[in-house]
Formats: sequence, structure tokens, C-alpha cells
Amino acid sequence: MGLKMIVRQFIWMLGILSCFILGWIVYVIVPNQVLDTPPRGEETPPPDFGLVKTGQKIYGANGCAGCHTQVVRPANMGSDIARGWGSRRTLPVDYYHERNPFLGIVRMGSDLSNVGTRRKDPHWFYILLYNPDKIFPGTIMPPYRYLFRKVRAEGKRNPEALPQELTPGVPSELQVLPSPEAIALVAYLLSLDRTYPIETRAKNHE
Ligand code: HEC
Repeated sequence: MGLKMIVRQFIWMLGILSCFILGWIVYVIVPNQVLDTPPRGEETPPPDFGLVKTGQKIYGANGCAGCHTQVVRPANMGSDIARGWGSRRTLPVDYYHERNPFLGIVRMGSDLSNVGTRRKDPHWFYILLYNPDKIFPGTIMPPYRYLFRKVRAEGKRNPEALPQELTPGVPSELQVLPSPEAIALVAYLLSLDRTYPIETRAKNHE
């Protein structure tokens, strides 16, 4: 093997090594510097617990994140804030307590980062989940009727039951009630509020 060959192989190895190092810097070191704001005290969002935590799992299990994002983009990178989906961009610290943040990749429906600030009535959510078409005529959002159960009315209507005119095809002696899964899912949706103020190193949360 000539000296020229050794030098050429050495340059190859160096090239391959620098590709790895460059990738590591660009994908690990730089994002860590820019994004990883260490939370300080009350700057961290309130942790989820109880029903809300269960609801988050149901949100994941039903593939809601396949159509809905939970990321509000900064004002200079999209119209999210102008559309009223949040008062500020979301930041990594917003997901501080979440094991599986549902950022989502496709936005068929609206961003749900702050849906709990726009919609406050649990019954609105139950109607949406049972029959999305009633709220958004012609929508592609599928109904989630298996999150509801039919219970015999026993002469008295449960105040939690869906209005009869919204449950076509269900005999009048039955009433449609949200299941524990639907109740937890709606508790989670109502909890979605990432509008609390946050101090960041980057200072770019408008
Ligand atoms: C196939 C896509 C799709 C899936 C899956 C889906 N949605 Fe939707 N969703 C939509 C669309 C689209 C809209 C907006 C309504 C419209 O304009 O058609 C919407 C609207 C909503 C809204 C109202 C948001 C607002 O800003 O008022 C909520 C809340 C919601 N969906 C929750 C859910 C939940 C919870 C799940 C899972 C159980 C889910 N969606 C699954 C497509 C979807």
C-alpha cells in the first residue's frame, strides 16, 4: 500500500467522522442549547393528575393526534396566534410534565393546545364526540360513539344524557350517557390551556 493510498483512506475516515460530529452538533447540541430552557419554580406548567391524566391516554389511544396538533407556532411563522389558537407560541417547557406530548404532525382539525380556553362547556364536547356533524356540518372528524353508553331511562332523564334530538335512531326509552372514558377525555380537553406566562432564555414567546 502506497503512502498516497493511506492518505486517501485517512481523508475518507476523517470525512465520515466529521459527518457524524456535524450531525450530532446540529441535531443534539444546538437544539439543546436553544430549546432546553431549564424550568425554574413556578415557570413550569401545573402538572396533570387524576382524570386529566387518564383523559390524555384516551386522547392518544383514539388517534386524535392524527388530525389535531398541540403546537402553536410563533407569530412570524404562521397564522396560529391570529386565528385565536393561543396567545403565545408553545415552548418545550409547556410539555415539561407530559410523558407523551401530542404535538401531532398533520393538522386536519384545529390546534388544540388551548382548546380549554375557547370551549368551556363539557356538553359541547360530548355532542362533538358523539356527533361531530351536528356542530360542524360536513366535517371529516369521525364520531366516537363507542365512548358513550346507552342506559334505560327509567322514567327520568339524566341531566348528563345527550339531548334526544341529537341521538337519532336511539329508542326513546334509552338515553345516551358519556362513558368514564369520554368524561376523562373531556376533562383533559377542558384542561388544555397553555396561555400562562413563561420567562424564557430565548425571549421569543410572542
Ligand atoms: C379525521 C380527522 C380528525 C380526527 C381523527 C379527530 N378530529 Fe377533531 N376535528 C377535526 C376537524 C376537521 C375539526 C374542525 C371541524 C371542521 O371545521 O370540520 C375538528 C374539531 C375538533 C374540535 C373543536 C376544536 C375547536 O377549535 O373548536 C375538538 C375539541 C376536537 N376536534 C377534538 C377531537 C378529539 C378529542 C379527537 C379524538 C377522540 C378528534 N378530534 C379526532 C378532525 C378530526
